[in-house]
Amino acid sequence: MLGQKYRKQLLEQMTLREKAAEMSQLWGENPDGTLMGLRRGFQKSTHLMDNAGSFLGFNGAELVLEAQRLHMEASAHHIPLLFMTDVIHGYKTIFPSVLGIGTTWDPDLAEEMASVAAAEASVSGVHVTFSPMADLVRDARWGRVTESTGEDPYLNSLFTAAFTKGYQGDGIDKPFHIASCVKHFAGYGAAEGGRDYDSTQIGDYQFYNDYLPAFQSAIDAGCELVMPGFNALNGMPCTCNKNLLSDVLRKYLQFKGIVISDCTAIWELVPHGVCADNAEAAERSLNAGIDIEMVSSTFYENLEALVERGDVTMEQIDEAVERILLLKDKMGLFENPYKDTDPEKEKELHLCAAHRALARKAVAESAVLLKNQNQVLPLKKGEKIALIGPLSDSRELIDVWGLVNGEEKDCVTIREGLSDQNIICVPGCHQWNLREMDAVHPSDEALIAEALQAAETCDKIVLALGEHPSMSSEAGSRSDLSLPANQMELLHALYRTGKPIITILISGRPLVLGEIAEHSDAVLMAWFPGTEGGNGIADLLTGQCSPSGRLTMSMPRATGQAPIYYNHLPTGRPNDADKYESFKNGYIDIYPGPLYPFGYGLTYTTFDYSPVSLSADQVSAADDSSEEPLLLASITLTNTGTCEGTETVQLYIQDVAGTYSRPVRMLKDFRKVTLQPKESTVVSFSVTPDMLKYYIPGKGLTLEKGLFRVFIGSDANTTNGKEFTLNRK
Ligand code: BGC
Repeated sequence: MLGQKYRKQLLEQMTLREKAAEMSQLWGENPDGTLMGLRRGFQKSTHLMDNAGSFLGFNGAELVLEAQRLHMEASAHHIPLLFMTDVIHGYKTIFPSVLGIGTTWDPDLAEEMASVAAAEASVSGVHVTFSPMADLVRDARWGRVTESTGEDPYLNSLFTAAFTKGYQGDGIDKPFHIASCVKHFAGYGAAEGGRDYDSTQIGDYQFYNDYLPAFQSAIDAGCELVMPGFNALNGMPCTCNKNLLSDVLRKYLQFKGIVISDCTAIWELVPHGVCADNAEAAERSLNAGIDIEMVSSTFYENLEALVERGDVTMEQIDEAVERILLLKDKMGLFENPYKDTDPEKEKELHLCAAHRALARKAVAESAVLLKNQNQVLPLKKGEKIALIGPLSDSRELIDVWGLVNGEEKDCVTIREGLSDQNIICVPGCHQWNLREMDAVHPSDEALIAEALQAAETCDKIVLALGEHPSMSSEAGSRSDLSLPANQMELLHALYRTGKPIITILISGRPLVLGEIAEHSDAVLMAWFPGTEGGNGIADLLTGQCSPSGRLTMSMPRATGQAPIYYNHLPTGRPNDADKYESFKNGYIDIYPGPLYPFGYGLTYTTFDYSPVSLSADQVSAADDSSEEPLLLASITLTNTGTCEGTETVQLYIQDVAGTYSRPVRMLKDFRKVTLQPKESTVVSFSVTPDMLKYYIPGKGLTLEKGLFRVFIGSDANTTNGKEFTLNRK
């Protein structure tokens, strides 16, 4: 690091135009047709290109070495470029989609995966990744739920910290580490109707309690950048939302790093209807607190005039540029602009055996076993199965974000994984068009006939169904959470054979599974499992690993239930029954609650929970700042089945009567416990004041006295609970 004095000198030498370029991030081709970046080669040199501060989506060791070398020559002050891209769940070795990382309930594993992703990306010249996504998601129609770890603020917070630590390690100057950018600040996941880019309306009570914690956690873990969301929050687009970017982000969350706009988000302030033209968009977003403009060019085109008119100040611009130079300095780029970029290391690290092994382990930890009737799973070695369906021998196992840098050709298919483990697979209808969402086409009928033929020769059917990668991720919202109609017809046809069906689902979101679950003997939700998908799934199907994944989003019974999440507020007319009750909260045409709740997931064994015991039922705390643990809540867990298994023991707390209506329950801690058959262990959780505090608008974090309920069980529906009272000292 060269230090503040060096950076100050640099800043003094830079012209305003050069500073505006430093604040610009360039990409290949802009939507308006102007070529801003290097993607098409290095032939075009402009003042902006020569002095730009960073590039988006431009990586690969050879390319970066050359681009950085040319840039160091061309840039007026020899300021190195930052190369940024979306390393979301792996770089070349692609791990399960982020929702699938969430269902591992294993933040340590997430940290390890992020660190592997950082190593693979860093040798390809990447300095910054736009990850983690901290958006709380409650509506599975929104395509970007695949990029979130789920509907729980506490679990999301553990994961955003883990991702950040994994990417940044002990320091971004260290080899094989990159800087992390948490996004999309904030509330983007609450898009109306689950439609991508749509408006969000979130009151302060919800915003501070539910939407901010995962951002806070990434920032506390040292995250270097923040990206505002595309959405308008309570009428104000985040990109020019001064209250959000200055007061909430800088003051409340104490963020010190760089704020980078989302892709072309500053241009989008015009269609958002808050700016008359690009000049106003530049002015408002700079005044709100944006330091780097991604892909659009309003800063570069307007800052000189805006300073002249007094609409923005030189001090503001200097502050933004100083933050960018500081990040470059922290990474050691002034001393070595190439950092870890190394074509030889790319060959060594990308998709190496150790990284693949970690990815395989992650798949096995991530997939959630939703049903296993008559122990149809695990399969026995040497067993012959009919392996049917569009995803049974497909490499389309990576979601859209994984495909930014990862490649389908590197994926192991389910057939390859099973065959490797001695399962004899009779193939049926692999050639299905996964993008097709309508009813069966004549061409599908031949494939169904082929599937039925395969089924005839085997005792069990393994059926791999799901979504095409383009059906989730950005701009991948759906109005219907069912599987495409033609895939359902395939399932119906197979069901009529009467043979046991094991359904594997590949998906970027929770799906409506009622009929699928009814027609299948086993259901395994594998999300987008990534490069080692086939191997990890085979490990589970053959019993090589016992399933331990747990849902982090509720599985709805019908699309019309969206948004549906376990930690909702109670109503004056709650409906706890498993049926419709008149004049109670809910719908007249569907049971209340999800088909499978948050936290749910089966193993190959069974567990018994003793009733909850508390070390005290009356506790006291002096004031809001109390940190002393209040009591211990425990259960005895016993493996009552016949094989080893891992249980995710979950602690939920309900604040029975708060000043504000509090969620019906909230996850506060959990433990993954592995037990042998008949083995028992006591699992204890310390209940702390932090678990009981919540944000009261105008007052801040508050610890209210009164009655609380503690639940310990295997999912959010557990009724295994006990009460205690918190008194004031
Ligand atoms: C997405 C961001 C992403 C950026 C850069 C945008 O469209 O909203 O999440 O980081 O593109 O690729």
